[in-house]
Amino acid sequence: MEVIITKDYDEMSKAAADVIAEQILRKPNAVLGLATGGTPVGTYKELIRRHKEGKLDFSKIVTFNLDEYLGLPTTHDQSYHYFMYDNLFSHVNINPQNVHVPSGTAVNVEEFCEWYEDEIDKAGGIDLQLLGIGGDGHIAFNEPGSSLGSRTRMKTLTEETIEDNARFFDKREDVPRFAITMGVGTILEAKKLLLVANGEKKAETVAKFIEGPITSQVTASALQLHPHAIVILDEGAASKLEHADYYKWVYAQKPKAMELLHG
Ligand code: GLP
Repeated sequence: MEVIITKDYDEMSKAAADVIAEQILRKPNAVLGLATGGTPVGTYKELIRRHKEGKLDFSKIVTFNLDEYLGLPTTHDQSYHYFMYDNLFSHVNINPQNVHVPSGTAVNVEEFCEWYEDEIDKAGGIDLQLLGIGGDGHIAFNEPGSSLGSRTRMKTLTEETIEDNARFFDKREDVPRFAITMGVGTILEAKKLLLVANGEKKAETVAKFIEGPITSQVTASALQLHPHAIVILDEGAASKLEHADYYKWVYAQKPKAMELLHG
């Protein structure tokens, strides 16, 4: 796992946008896995800025979102579908036919989940999956106890997640209790993973998933199993890492390491 510690939220967002931009430039028809939540908003803003400057073309990009609340139609301003158009898709030249967000109103949820997995396969798999992390250590909506081999399915949200997400709704009772989410196993099949986290509130969870044991109780810890996972943090989120100095040292040596590897 490559751990990059940046100064603040802005720097974290720019560093994450660098990784995504590099992927788009290298493969203009790349398949991107995308995430919602407050954390990636700055990353999306930076990608939009680069697109407006003529540096990034999304016309051939295909996207798959991680999750969606069950029960919310795409028009609901708290649906993840709405979030993605509001924070990214409406501001770049993406082809809406290439956009996939799980349906919050699927009639047959199990059938829908199988279809979603098939669509990812048909697209050739996800090249780069962007992730945030929930307070309880979840990725997408893979709450504690989710199998590390899980696939796209319905999940019941924890009280902690409902509480965390209540800030976006008028009342706590309005927060859906169920979601459709890619599984940990689905996420681990992406060729590259990029997790972003900021703020001291996330510090303990971040330390657990990077330096603690691999466990279904902290589903982000499954990133330890992935051959190409990058974690970009700000100082706050990195503040409880035991080996922060080592990660900073490794990052400082990167140009030299690259020179040794690639000349
Ligand atoms: C939700 C999403 C996750 C996201 C998490 C953290 O639970 N399903 O994908 O990582 O929120 O959100 P935030 O970035 O707002 O802390």
